[in-house]
Amino acid sequence: MRNITLFENGEHKFILLNESEPGEEDGIRSNQYLILHGRSGVLVDPGGFGVMPRVLAEMLRHIGPAELKGIVLSHQDPDIVGGISTWLELTTAPVFVSKIWMRFLPHYGIRDMNRFRGLPDEGTRCSIDRGFELDLLPAHFLHSEGQINVYDPASKILFTGDIGAATLPDGRDAPFVDDFESHLPYIEPFHKRYMCSNKAARLWVDAVSKLDIDMIAPQHGAIYRGKSVHDFLNWFRELRCGIDLMKGSGIFEAEASL
Ligand SMILES: [Fe+2]
Ligand SMILES: [Fe+2]
Repeated sequence: MRNITLFENGEHKFILLNESEPGEEDGIRSNQYLILHGRSGVLVDPGGFGVMPRVLAEMLRHIGPAELKGIVLSHQDPDIVGGISTWLELTTAPVFVSKIWMRFLPHYGIRDMNRFRGLPDEGTRCSIDRGFELDLLPAHFLHSEGQINVYDPASKILFTGDIGAATLPDGRDAPFVDDFESHLPYIEPFHKRYMCSNKAARLWVDAVSKLDIDMIAPQHGAIYRGKSVHDFLNWFRELRCGIDLMKGSGIFEAEASL
């Protein structure tokens, strides 16, 4: 578990709130982020049921439940949404998610969908509070059919969900990627299998390359900064992945197998 302030400028902060411990969810370790502007907070990909108490405890070091003004779900996976029922009970924050997942989320035990805001395919600029705006950007098919990124113009940090995610072995837990080549073995198999196609990757890279990005913050693994931001984007733009590597039904080129 760790708590790292990635950006701080007076009243604005972007915090890696928690990184789950190995085995904590009996799955891949995940990152949860808190963006703060004054006393207003936005929680990004709050995580599964198992990490919820720890994420809450970390958040309470910064703000109270009533000061949480938004929760962003990058997509529908259980490592993101599994704890949402409890967050809905503890806070009054609206929840932002692609509109295409709205009708599936009740299966997480959510009875009242009034708190959810379905985002359009093209994304939207979201005004959280006075002087606190976030860009909710499309990243569809990477890997989810309705995937949302968060760009914070104040910190110039792009949260990318599973894009850029690493499966790091126990013991290798540097919080930042400073040498992209040495990081590649931990991202390549995952991206080849879980990202849907080079077309989706290329369209996304071309879109986000127009942004001024200081860091790329994924939902799993280390955070890209400095030169590794552009090294990652250049690599991902050329990656053959997903259906590019299918040779038949159930048959992948060896490099796409996990
Ligand atoms: Fe996912
Ligand atoms: Fe994930």
